[in-house]
Amino acid sequence: MSIHVLFVCLGNICRSPMAEAVFRHKVKEAGLEGAIVSDSAGTGDWHIGQPPHKGTRKVLEANRVSYEGIAARQLSAKDFDTHRYIVAMDASNVRNIQSFQVKAYDGELKLLMDFVPGKEGSEVPDPYYTGNFDEVYRMVDEGCDRLLAYIRSKEGV
Ligand code: 4NP
Repeated sequence: MSIHVLFVCLGNICRSPMAEAVFRHKVKEAGLEGAIVSDSAGTGDWHIGQPPHKGTRKVLEANRVSYEGIAARQLSAKDFDTHRYIVAMDASNVRNIQSFQVKAYDGELKLLMDFVPGKEGSEVPDPYYTGNFDEVYRMVDEGCDRLLAYIRSKEGV
């Protein structure tokens, strides 16, 4: 059985699709394709069906990370059954995620930065407003490295 990881932000066009693509890239590099599967969703519904934001596409292209097949969708209550890890970008995402929850969740709902030593509890700033996609990429890259190490150690893969 695959281990499913879901990255969540507000619009699902900037931060969480970037994290999905970067994490997928790292999983593939580690030879764990199929063992660990990632997806992303937004708590908002404004951008359903859209590809990642131009700023996210640009920084992924610059770092040679594929975003093929990634399109925005909205979080649903079913995601709590499918995903063992739900990884939010900021604290408002966590509160919004919990509003989709219909029963107790037995997976882990965490902030991406919770996996980075010394950065626990900090937020990935929204580049939709700040325009700083490079800063977000650096945070997402480090967060995904740490998250992958955490899952590998915890799940024994
Ligand atoms: P994201 O950024 O949550 O990182 O995808 C946003 C994208 C769109 C909007 C807000 C944040 N919006 O309000 O449309």
